[in-house]
Formats: sequence, structure tokens, C-alpha cells
Amino acid sequence: MSTTGDPFSVRLRQATWSEHQAAESERYVSALIAGDLDRADYATLVAQHHAIYRALETVADELRDHPVVGRFVDDRLTRLPALDADLEFLAGPDWADHLPTNPTTLAYAARIRTVGASWPAGFVAHHYTRYLGDLSGGLAIGRALSRTYRLGDGPGATFYRFAGIPDPRAYKQAYRERLDALPLDEGQRVAVVDEVRVAYRCNIAVLSELGRATGRAGEVAA
Ligand code: HEM
Repeated sequence: MSTTGDPFSVRLRQATWSEHQAAESERYVSALIAGDLDRADYATLVAQHHAIYRALETVADELRDHPVVGRFVDDRLTRLPALDADLEFLAGPDWADHLPTNPTTLAYAARIRTVGASWPAGFVAHHYTRYLGDLSGGLAIGRALSRTYRLGDGPGATFYRFAGIPDPRAYKQAYRERLDALPLDEGQRVAVVDEVRVAYRCNIAVLSELGRATGRAGEVAA
């Protein structure tokens, strides 16, 4: 049980872990990893990531010089060039003409942009939910997807590889120290925790919509 006396990073993780478990349990990613879906289904997920990271990285760029949030902006995290390369490889240079950006994805991207424009500390919630996840379970997911879709070390799943971050564990530790140092009062902390829950729900909605379109909706058995 977390308390308000815990470092903020600990509190954030503990207070949102049940949402994480719900996100992790969405069937779409495990169906992809198991090879139950095809490469085109995988490309559709990558296209959703493209819209989400375009929003994240546009806002990150705008907040680069912000005294508090600017500390989280780091070019080593930037995923958009990797997503461009992966999509071009998986679905051709005209991928945007035939891969949909789903309504739940548009809503998630809109949320990131709205929060980014009006509440910089709230943007940290979105930044944390995606990038710390990418540097955690995301690394293993990427290796599994590379195996399933026989992508090797080339493009296709470069989104999951952080060439500039050879030691993800150390990176995440330093990131958590930045979270702990955020100059937020109690009300703002509660609001950031709530926004992480929103971010998880956005991810669940995206995965669930993809799942419905392929008959892989719902949660995997625990
Ligand atoms: C799909 C299957 C998923 C698996 C197997 C998975 C697995 C994991 C694991 C094992 C960790 C802990 C790593 C550590 O202790 O350092 C973790 C952390 C995390 N994951 Fe996931 N995850 C999944 C999906 C997601 C999704 C969809 C999101 C949200 C976009 C997400 C966001 C996070 C975050 C933010 C953390 C860091 C929590 C913290 O330490 O503060 N994960 N994940």
C-alpha cells in the first residue's frame, strides 16, 4: 500500500499498477506475439503508435525548454523516426494511405496535445506512461515481436530498440529520480497520478479497439 510519504515514483507506480495490469492483459499484443495475427495486424498497431508518438514528441519538443518538464525531454527517447522506418518497411512508403488511425488513437493523441498545451506537469504523466513502459515490458515485447514476424535486427520493430540507451535499468532509475524531484504540491501529485490512469485507459481503449477489429478483444486469462 502506497502512502503520500513514499517517493513520488513509487507512489505513481503503486497507485496505477492495477491499470497497468489491465493494459498488460489486453489480448491484442499477446495474440500478435503468439502469431495468431498477421504482419498487417502488427503494422496496424505500429500505425497507432505513430499517431500517439507524433503527439507526444510534438508536445515534448514544445516543452523542451520548460523549467520542470524540459528535464524529461530527451532525444534518446524519440521514437518517431523509428516508427517511420518500421512502417515504411512493413507497409510501404504510402502506409498512411491504407493503414487507419482509429478513433481511440485519435482521442488518445488529442488528450496528449490538450494536456501538453494547458498543463505541462500533466504531460509528464503521458511521457512516463509510454516511455517508461517502452523501457520496461516494451523491450521484451519488441524482442518477441521480432521473433514472431521474423524481423531480425533490421527495420520493422526498431521502435522497441533504444540505441542511445544501452542500460535501460539505469536510465529508468535516473528517470524516477526526476519524477521524485518534481516540484509539485499534494493536489498536483494527485492530479498527475490521475492523469497516468487516464493514459493507461487510453492505451487499453486503443488495444481493445484493435482487438475488436480482429476478433481478439478482451483480456487474456491471468
Ligand atoms: C502488453 C504487455 C505488457 C507487458 C508484458 C508489460 C510488462 C511490464 C513489466 C514487466 C514492467 C516492470 C519492469 C520493471 O520492473 O522495471 C512494466 C513496467 C511498466 N509498464 Fe508495462 N507491460 C505491458 C504493457 C504496458 C502498456 C500497454 C503500458 C502503457 C502504455 C505499460 C506501461 C508501463 C509502465 C509505465 C511501466 C513502469 C512502471 C514503473 O516502474 O513506474 N505497459 N511493464
